[in-house]
Amino acid sequence: MGLVMEEMYIEWGRQAREALEKPVPVSFNRVFRSVIVAGMGGSGIVGDVLSTLSSKYSSPPIVTVKNHLLPGFASKEDLLLVVSYSGNTVETLRVFDSALERNIPMVAVSSGGLLKTRAYEHGVPHIQLPEGLAPRASLPSMLYGVVKLLYENNLLNIPFEIVEESVSFLEEETGKAIAKAGVIAEWVDRSKGLLVISTHSPLESLGLRGKNEFNENAKIPVKVDVAPEWMHNDIVGYEAPFLKDFAILEVVDPGDKVGVMLVDFMRTVYARVTGSFHRLVLEGNSLLDKILYGSMVFGLSSCKLARIRGIDPLKTASIQEYKKAAGAIFGA
Ligand code: F6R
Repeated sequence: MGLVMEEMYIEWGRQAREALEKPVPVSFNRVFRSVIVAGMGGSGIVGDVLSTLSSKYSSPPIVTVKNHLLPGFASKEDLLLVVSYSGNTVETLRVFDSALERNIPMVAVSSGGLLKTRAYEHGVPHIQLPEGLAPRASLPSMLYGVVKLLYENNLLNIPFEIVEESVSFLEEETGKAIAKAGVIAEWVDRSKGLLVISTHSPLESLGLRGKNEFNENAKIPVKVDVAPEWMHNDIVGYEAPFLKDFAILEVVDPGDKVGVMLVDFMRTVYARVTGSFHRLVLEGNSLLDKILYGSMVFGLSSCKLARIRGIDPLKTASIQEYKKAAGAIFGA
């Protein structure tokens, strides 16, 4: 792998632009009842981000599958996007194989691997991702490739200027994201508590992305709290927690008044157990800008925290350990 982890994030603007310039591999010229997005980890997050976008832009229902099971409802009426950066993730390949058996229309997205081979063997359109990246660092390639595919097939009604503007925004705001990431990494390191990402709907995907990034790059456990659902369960867990040390990283969209008020309320509850707070106010005009900006800050801050702790952000030894065992577990 030529690039160090931080460089992969810093080049996101270019990565997004290249993905957007590529022609889409297929025009279906038909309507689909739903779009199902299957993938794990850094590839699966694409489905979550699409769900967040579908809170604002019209689309058929978007269903995210982050396991090895193709939903029972899936039929020829639905479009399945199978996303795996490596193309070798056993759960994702299981979904692909089930969909082949059930004749479900598909598009595969990978940098290579068995998914690419099987897609070509079975005439399934394939979106080619650049090689040599960590899956989580290839988010723009995957996301822009899929957004363009859905847009051109009338499956995501996002104005295309918004998609294009988000690429320029990403290029222009990289410096700001680097600076903010440094501040967050130092704050998390000083806090030494359980990192809690506290955010509001429809930013579930961004909260989850933040968790995954701190897990994989900085090697720490993270909890994600999302209002308003948080007010109906998690909130009670802060009445008598076993843990004493929490670091609350608030993530807010400043254009969403209700969201900001919900996160402000959450702070009054956390304040009973901790005094450690930091707020990430998302930059950008569109929801897409904000998700990308937040994702870039999470990527860079988790790398920076890894460096402070003397850890290599790139290596994910435990995932590799699991992947070795997964073949036997799934009988592949
Ligand atoms: C992210 C990462 C993992 C993988 C996941 C699935 O960088 O390493 O979360 O994304 O293990 O693998 P792929 O993406 O190759 O299908």
